[in-house]
Amino acid sequence: PITKHILAAGVAAAALMGVNAASAQEVIKFAHVVAPNTPKGQGAEFFKKRAEEILGDKVKIEIYPNSQLFDDDKVLPAILRGDVQFGAPSLAKFGKWTKKLQVYDLPFLFKDMDAVSCFQNGEKGQELLNSMSGKGLTGVGYWHNGLKQLSANKPLRAPEDAAGLKFRIQSSDVIAAQFEAIDAVPQKMAFSETYSALQTGVVDGQENTWSNIYSKKFFEVQDYITESNHGLLDYMVVTSTKWWDGLDPEIRAGLTQAMNEASDYANGLSANLTAEQRQAVIDSGETEILSVSADDFAKWQTAMKPVWDEFSGDIGQDIIDAAAACN
Ligand code: LMR
Repeated sequence: PITKHILAAGVAAAALMGVNAASAQEVIKFAHVVAPNTPKGQGAEFFKKRAEEILGDKVKIEIYPNSQLFDDDKVLPAILRGDVQFGAPSLAKFGKWTKKLQVYDLPFLFKDMDAVSCFQNGEKGQELLNSMSGKGLTGVGYWHNGLKQLSANKPLRAPEDAAGLKFRIQSSDVIAAQFEAIDAVPQKMAFSETYSALQTGVVDGQENTWSNIYSKKFFEVQDYITESNHGLLDYMVVTSTKWWDGLDPEIRAGLTQAMNEASDYANGLSANLTAEQRQAVIDSGETEILSVSADDFAKWQTAMKPVWDEFSGDIGQDIIDAAAACN
């Protein structure tokens, strides 16, 4: 009975310390801002499932979707503090940490998602996973969402239709410049605040993927969506370099395997989910979809493309060239 009591006390103490009695259990939090029924939401759940299958009780993965834990501007400092272990902000949200990832925001850089995969899997794309190592952050994978569409409460057929309108944007200087290039007014704002800003008219429009427009119901508060495919919204899954390098090698190997599988899964899923959710937006009848003629597409491109030169010094022309070569 005495040993039993000692054991019980040990279990209680271990529980208080947040470790499993049998062996130390690594509790790993993954925070993101989108809904579970999105490529990122599904990727995170797949990562949890595989990591727990591969490593058993050694790890417990907790997923926090929908900005429950942190908005994207807070998640990176939280990773460095150790309050959360993984985040997957959009590539548009790393401007304070590295200028190189701005390449992904350049308008009309990628003609389709195959070109995006080509660049991300190539030498330069892989190098960019380490572009924040000096700041203590390691990229462990890229996850697709998709190409962005423009929405507003008036039809945007050509660039001049957007003049004077306010657009909610992600916290990216490139995206701000893109809207300024068409004489619109960009307003940086957290994803979690976007629906209500559109609903109350604080902003007139926004740009996002079909998946985000659908899962956050932006289509219910926007009368028109222009199918412009003018830019990319993808993610980098990031963790703390110090935490990652300090992990038990067996756990790190298991997490690496689970993350690689989750990246393949999310990237394989995104095209179908995009098509499905685009159709659901159309079927809702709540908004009008405007397709873009070849002539108008060229006009948008001409109006927005000067942004490339503005940022090529910060990004590096070699990186831009490698991305463009994937088309
Ligand atoms: C946004 O802020 O619009 C996106 O970055 C949200 C997301 O994570 O897809």
